Amino acid sequence: MFFKGRPYITGALPSPEPTIQELEHRQIAYQAACEGIVLLENHNQTLPLQPGRIALYGSGASRTVKGGTGSGEVNERYTVNILQGLENAGFTISTKRWIEDFEKEYHQSRVDYALKKAKTNVLDPTAIIDVMKDPPMLPSGRLIDEKDILDSKTDTAIYVVARQAGEGTDKKLDNEEFHLTWTEKENLHILARNYAHTILVINSGSQMDLGKPEDLQVGALLYYCQQGEEGGNALADLLTGKVTPSAKLTGTWLNAYEDLPFGEEYSYLNGDTHHAIYKEGIFVGYRYFDTFEVPCRYPFGYGLSYTDFEIDCLEMNVFQKKVQIRVRVTNTGTRPGKEVVQFYVSCPQGNLDKEYQRLVDFVKTRTLEPGESQILLLQAPFKQLASYHTRKAAWILEEGTYVLRVGNCSAHTQVGGLLINEKTQTLINGRNLCMAKEPVTELFAPKEKVQARLNRQILEARKEGVPTMLVPALPARGICYHRPKMDFGADVMKILNSLSVKEKIEVLVGAGYETSLQAKYIASFASVGKTTDKLWKKKIPGVNLSDGPAGLRIARAAAVRKNGLLKTSEFTMSFMEFLPEAFKSFMLVNPKKDKVLYQHVTAFPVGCALAQSWNQALCHQVGRALGGEMNAYLVTYWLAPAMNIQKNPLCGRNFEYYSEDPIVSGKIASAVVKGVQTIPGTYAVIKHFVANNQESDRTQSDSIVDERPLREIYCLGFQYCVQDAHPAAVMSSYNRLNGLYTANDRQLLTDLLRAEWGFDGIVMTDWYATGKGLASNVDCIKAGNDLIMPGTWPAKQQIYKALKEHRLSDYDLRLSAARVIDELIHSNVARRFLAENKESRFEPLRKDQ
Ligand code: BGC
Repeated sequence: MFFKGRPYITGALPSPEPTIQELEHRQIAYQAACEGIVLLENHNQTLPLQPGRIALYGSGASRTVKGGTGSGEVNERYTVNILQGLENAGFTISTKRWIEDFEKEYHQSRVDYALKKAKTNVLDPTAIIDVMKDPPMLPSGRLIDEKDILDSKTDTAIYVVARQAGEGTDKKLDNEEFHLTWTEKENLHILARNYAHTILVINSGSQMDLGKPEDLQVGALLYYCQQGEEGGNALADLLTGKVTPSAKLTGTWLNAYEDLPFGEEYSYLNGDTHHAIYKEGIFVGYRYFDTFEVPCRYPFGYGLSYTDFEIDCLEMNVFQKKVQIRVRVTNTGTRPGKEVVQFYVSCPQGNLDKEYQRLVDFVKTRTLEPGESQILLLQAPFKQLASYHTRKAAWILEEGTYVLRVGNCSAHTQVGGLLINEKTQTLINGRNLCMAKEPVTELFAPKEKVQARLNRQILEARKEGVPTMLVPALPARGICYHRPKMDFGADVMKILNSLSVKEKIEVLVGAGYETSLQAKYIASFASVGKTTDKLWKKKIPGVNLSDGPAGLRIARAAAVRKNGLLKTSEFTMSFMEFLPEAFKSFMLVNPKKDKVLYQHVTAFPVGCALAQSWNQALCHQVGRALGGEMNAYLVTYWLAPAMNIQKNPLCGRNFEYYSEDPIVSGKIASAVVKGVQTIPGTYAVIKHFVANNQESDRTQSDSIVDERPLREIYCLGFQYCVQDAHPAAVMSSYNRLNGLYTANDRQLLTDLLRAEWGFDGIVMTDWYATGKGLASNVDCIKAGNDLIMPGTWPAKQQIYKALKEHRLSDYDLRLSAARVIDELIHSNVARRFLAENKESRFEPLRKDQ
């Protein structure tokens, strides 16, 4: 491609026709959606259904929410909503009048909202951000009337409740975001009175309060979550039984928000968004509900099927530094299906309080036909049974009996083995890191009660002859917190040594957004940032970064004007649709004037939905598909997976996050990262490191958390993924951690991430996380946060000044620059356009300079 006679390179296509890749990825998105929808209730065999006439109501029927808002959005070719999905599967929707009325109300609500937002001053970034923080809500539609019911001529109704949420703000407890609206409740009562079967579908990125279970008169309940572009088809195929549900919750569903420990203090609720004190300690999610025996609505790991499975524990084994359990899963029902086997361990209560049980591994079966069995191996390294002893700064395996349990849900397990540790063993000796200034006063666990419960189970298990083994003597590992070495290949050092100080700084500060084509250009239209493209001559390519986790956030179409101005067909964040018209027509493509190029991508299920599959092989496939799209459209860094813990159901970004449990989060992320990185030079960026669990005022909030929960809950998933999948990059978060911005925290980014976990990639900031009143640009480089994104001119100035004034060492600058160069020169872009034996397609530009 050329503008002003200069070449730029793009993967965008001249034709809008779907490619084979796009069609294949749609299939993967469908598969993932089929395995991500959780069946929560199914009474009197309401499901599966025969396709036929069906009454369909609710905001999510025609306006199915495929994913959340903000940087997690995706612009796919088209999404199959629930209405279309049902029609595709052969249903006749007999409530079109209700749906048409809903559509009118929906359009009016958008017009009203747009009018309100049209006054936004587009030159004021805070005003723009305010639009993002106050997204339009979906209306509930009108009350169902007698005519709707009569005309529907069916005994079965589906009601779809939809909610939208996204980054920058947390969900409200008081305006019916988290609860059902009055109309929704009324309509559900009307359905219960008038239809023999009612199916409720929850289309929200995280759990909702559905009121008292006894008030909810439904035959079946499904947690649809947000399932990307193929969700409607997947739901229909689950409803008809073409596919058997196999998803499980990755978070505990509450009976009431008030049941959550310290829920009333979350985010904006206590009026202080600047301090988030993590008083629940390690007791997050099921760890709290199980330990304190507080009833919940649906337990962690729960999900129904249309068939039944039996899980038999065959043997237990201690192998090298791991404990293993072999199980046989048999489909004892009448339909084919898949089951998820979950492996939990209850550790003895010792000097340290422990949660009642923790998940240590899980495996999903293949599709088993009725009567068919599969043998699975579940295993966990002893380190996963250890706890962090803050005073000793060590991971220890306390003496006592460890109860190993296996089941298909946290609440349905059987004891599969006992493991005896005769004396407390230290597995890792480290150093206290990232500590709170004052110890946090945490929940006091009912230790004796929990141990008594375990003792009863141990006694019972012994009577039943459950296998028992000893924990062998395990070696203790020390950690050496040395200053990171300049340990790079000759190719990196040669380039590094050829750079001036200013050029090294260029490498460390991003080159902003694409608005106009500058010099030598790799154009991934509407990527969210890029690295410098001033150093091609030195063989350092400028590469693009683009968001996730539900797909690749770029524009479907774009054009480059003769003057180099870049226009896209749309904004890649939906809130921008509501900005003033004049701004939009300036920014967007004019199809009559512009030569348009196309980049169609796939909207996969959102992070939470993907994790609900508990299917690592499938997540790997999704990751590989994403890597393929990145490569096609010349994106190098994918800003995902998002790995924060779903600490509170009100967090605006829960849809992007996998789970309340670090092992689910770590293993799913690991599978996705490995998939993305199967393509050499295509990189995943795990984010937001760490304790970024609140959206309101996120750049000002300080997460105050003790070292033990920090390590055992909030860091563990990241650690697992770093050590198992070797992601190329980590994104530090917006928030402070115990008083210090994470991007400036050397203990976090160098001592923990690199020295303890062995991470050898780059760390980048979250977008605009540095600057006045935020993290310091200079301290980023000191801490080991190598890349500042999307990059500003003051950032370069400040780093340069700090070097001159000896407030920043040349060594730290060189180290970060070397890390970034190492990745850039091995990136997909470098491999394609800078390989030694390839003619450089940028040659003509060099002459221009
Ligand atoms: C989000 C990140 C995202 C970045 C770039 C930030 O607002 O927190 O998750 O990757 O923007 O879009």
